[in-house]
Amino acid sequence: MKKGIILAGGSGSRLFPATLAISKQLLPVFDKPMIYYPLSILMLANIREILIISTPEDLPRFERLFRDGSHLGLKFSYASQPKPEGIAQAFLLGKEFIGKDPVLLILGDNIFYGHDLSQLLKESICTHDGGGLIFGYRVQDPERYGVVDFDKAGNVHSIEEKPKKPKSSYAIPGIYLYDNDVIQIASSLRPSKRGELEITDIHRAYLERGKLRVKILGRGYAWLDAGTHEALQRAASFVQTIEQRQGIKIACIEEIAFQMGYIDATQLSLLVRSMQETEYGRYLARLLKKEDLATPC
Ligand code: G1P
Repeated sequence: MKKGIILAGGSGSRLFPATLAISKQLLPVFDKPMIYYPLSILMLANIREILIISTPEDLPRFERLFRDGSHLGLKFSYASQPKPEGIAQAFLLGKEFIGKDPVLLILGDNIFYGHDLSQLLKESICTHDGGGLIFGYRVQDPERYGVVDFDKAGNVHSIEEKPKKPKSSYAIPGIYLYDNDVIQIASSLRPSKRGELEITDIHRAYLERGKLRVKILGRGYAWLDAGTHEALQRAASFVQTIEQRQGIKIACIEEIAFQMGYIDATQLSLLVRSMQETEYGRYLARLLKKEDLATPC
């Protein structure tokens, strides 16, 4: 059984004053909280045991939003990260939760979208036979991200965190699949100059062991982050454009739970009632009537 972690910590300082009193990952991206997007990815990948990590102040808000997860056919746990001490700390905070299993970590502000994405993830997870799996995505501004340099055969040459002179245009999106060694690797890391346990150092450790694979997310996929006001606005417009054109929602976790068979029609009808007379609620109600059934994505 694979475990999933959503890291939704940090102060969100680049979004002040919008995030002075609330977690960035609870801000809406068009019609739903930002965290729904990475959560939907875990659900589509068939991962149902999920740990949410956030600040002590914000954790109760996530608990209010998701409770124990049973209404979505999921099982949620919660852990607090008192200080922003790095993405890799998630594996130490989540040690008990991960147990002896492999783990997929996704960042709470990363939005993925694309045809057959769920298939790609399911295949990646099914064929994962140990080591680390990261993704590469071409961007215009790789210097803002972790950057992977690789050859035509997909062999990774280097991994660098926010390099001034990137060796490639391929950023590493915030979705990482590791075997259970990640806990031991994370506990051997020392904080970087900025005082964080860097996810890049985890990738490097796997690279040194010859156990790091990179999969390219091609041009048919969208990977958006929502870390600045402009990026947030662009992500919201993207979601609105696709949803209104097609009449199907992106990252509608209730729909995914229903279509993946995690909940039945009776459970979905309870969720419909809780949304009352909103457009979101009416969308869910249509699913119940089996009108317009679309494949989740
Ligand atoms: C983090 C990681 C970086 C990765 C990025 C993806 O950067 O350190 O390697 O490419 O997430 O969103 P941050 O957004 O914390 O600066």
